[in-house]
Amino acid sequence: MKINDNYNNLTESYLFSTISKKIAEFKEKNPNADIIKMGIGDVTLPLAKTVVDAMTKASMEMGKKESFRGYGPEQGYDFLRASIKEYYGKKNVSLKDDEIFVSDGAKSDLGNILDIFSIDNKVLIPDPVYPVYLDTNIMAGREVAFMKAGEENNFLPMPDESVAADIIYLCSPNNPTGSVYTYEMLAKWVQYAINQNAVILFDAAYECFIKDKSLPTSIYLIPGAEKCAIEFSSFSKMAGFTGTRCGYTVIPMALEFEGVKLNKLWLRRQTTKFNGVPYIIQRGAEAALCDEGFAQCRNNIEYYMKNAEIMAETFRKKGIYFTGGENSPYIWLKCPDNMTSWEFFDYLLEKANLVGTPGSGFGENGEGFFRLTAFGDRDNTIEAMKRIEKLL
Ligand code: MLT
Repeated sequence: MKINDNYNNLTESYLFSTISKKIAEFKEKNPNADIIKMGIGDVTLPLAKTVVDAMTKASMEMGKKESFRGYGPEQGYDFLRASIKEYYGKKNVSLKDDEIFVSDGAKSDLGNILDIFSIDNKVLIPDPVYPVYLDTNIMAGREVAFMKAGEENNFLPMPDESVAADIIYLCSPNNPTGSVYTYEMLAKWVQYAINQNAVILFDAAYECFIKDKSLPTSIYLIPGAEKCAIEFSSFSKMAGFTGTRCGYTVIPMALEFEGVKLNKLWLRRQTTKFNGVPYIIQRGAEAALCDEGFAQCRNNIEYYMKNAEIMAETFRKKGIYFTGGENSPYIWLKCPDNMTSWEFFDYLLEKANLVGTPGSGFGENGEGFFRLTAFGDRDNTIEAMKRIEKLL
């Protein structure tokens, strides 16, 4: 028996697990420390009332013989796919029901999607970016090339025709930097992917934080994207489902390689390896998209964006370079005094009992940067900024 030795090429633990371990160790040594966590992008506001009511009603249905449901469709119930279709319709993106696959979150789909691609594909990943893209490709043993994101390109790398790619990851608004591609920029990526006969894996998990109406909230707003892109999104940040788990992936019927529809391959993969998202959760997700539920979710998003504003104000006052916070719930800042990302992590934890995410955890180019999330509670956010003002 041999293990998948590609795992030996991974960092010892997943970024956010490493951080949790470090916090636990610090707590053990400093049991009275009042730690404020601004590390993992986890929501703190409760689910919207309309969502809770829908899930309660669905739970009651499950307790009655006439409305009980067992296995649901692997690709999601029709009612939720119809709601997601309508959500896209409001953005002027027209989808068919069977182009939408409901799942337990974007993270799972972003990892699992690799099942349908050959191991020989060349992968292009922005650096820094959400670590799941790189880690899942390392697990599979695929070769990865990076596109450098930095201050010089506003953390928005653009295609280089001299670089060959088969699978391209894009994340907009970007996690961790908060940078958002414009229509024109995404149009260049779509053209590049078509020229390269490549597929774009577009992570739109943070699209609901885009305030600037001139910025695209879906890659399908770009003509031609249906022929080269898969879009991943989630209810985690949009409706506070980080613990509830529901997301979706869009694979247009027009997306074909070697005469095969990727939609068909994914359907085959999901029906074999996945048994769908619980009925109760899907009813909750449906409620998050109805007018009333959506308005309540928007209130929560605005609350988080107000936190982001408070944070941005502090860093502006301190003259510390940062990006994000405007169309994204993350502030991406430069570590002061040339500290490395992990040095700054330790410094903040020890001196201010604040937890953030070291930029280097998102890739080599993230070194010297640091990410803070705006998903916290308001009072904690204000207190955290007071501590930063005093410390830096
Ligand atoms: C993050 O902090 O980057 C995210 O919460 C991680 C995730 O969504 O899985």
